[in-house]
Amino acid sequence: MLKGKSLIDPMDFTLEELELVFELSNDIIENPKKYSTICNGKLLATLFYEPSTRTRLSFEAAMLRLGGEVLGFSDVNSSSVSKGESLADTIRTVGCYADIIAMRHPKEGAAKVASTHSSIPVINAGDGGHQHPTQTLTDLLTIKNIKGNFSNHTIGLCGDLKFGRTVHSLVKALSRYENNRFILISPEELKIPDYIKQEILEKNNIEFIEVDRLEKIIDELDILYMTRVQKERFFNEEDYVRLKGSYILNEEKMRKAKQDMIILHPLPRVNEISNEIDKDPRACYFKQARFGMFVRMALICKLLGVWVDVEYR
Ligand code: CP
Repeated sequence: MLKGKSLIDPMDFTLEELELVFELSNDIIENPKKYSTICNGKLLATLFYEPSTRTRLSFEAAMLRLGGEVLGFSDVNSSSVSKGESLADTIRTVGCYADIIAMRHPKEGAAKVASTHSSIPVINAGDGGHQHPTQTLTDLLTIKNIKGNFSNHTIGLCGDLKFGRTVHSLVKALSRYENNRFILISPEELKIPDYIKQEILEKNNIEFIEVDRLEKIIDELDILYMTRVQKERFFNEEDYVRLKGSYILNEEKMRKAKQDMIILHPLPRVNEISNEIDKDPRACYFKQARFGMFVRMALICKLLGVWVDVEYR
């Protein structure tokens, strides 16, 4: 039962619980009307201490499509955070008004802290360079629906693997399935953190290699997960400018890729995927953004427990 739970880390749900979320997502995709009033009278609070397009708007669209309502802030300067209010007090207060919270914060661990002060479920919509579990649900639903399963894949993760929280969450999540192999493609300065390598990959005997050139290994990949170099997490502009053009996926590189490889990207992109690739049938990143709304609909239903209510009506 997921009712009343928070989602802070992709490992918070068991594989069985994840499967139920994906099943519900696909039922919502097929039968949207069945769910259009299921959250009547429920309120989602979106507390975004950092900018967002997809995560905030897909959460809001998700709740509205379920018949619920939304409130919140997308700019801390319009909230009492700007007067110095603590995260704990903000969360306690929002718990007096809403039924569920989706929050993004620049500090690693902020969502975890929030959940300890909250009387209602908290969903981590990204905490600094740490985790982004609902992006992972989005990525997994996309992989399930396009590739058919989560196992036996060679997955290339390319770009900013150091600060890319979506990468950290996805590696954790895919490591739970059988016989996946990871190719970690990044410049030296943006390699995946040691804790992911040691505590997730090495500890579980998962095959992985680290390389610095995409074109050398693109032909091996079943899934290519591109990421943006995270300007907002750099301490100096010079390093960002030097690294931002490290990997650009273009038609020349795609000619070497398998015909059934899929390209995913959490978005936003800057320059790492040329616009010419968008028309390639292997480019799945806008389909992925759409799946994100449906999986967030399913997640809201599960955490609020409204789906169980309907099943027994
Ligand atoms: N993928 C993602 O988190 O996008 P936003 O930053 O626009 O929410």
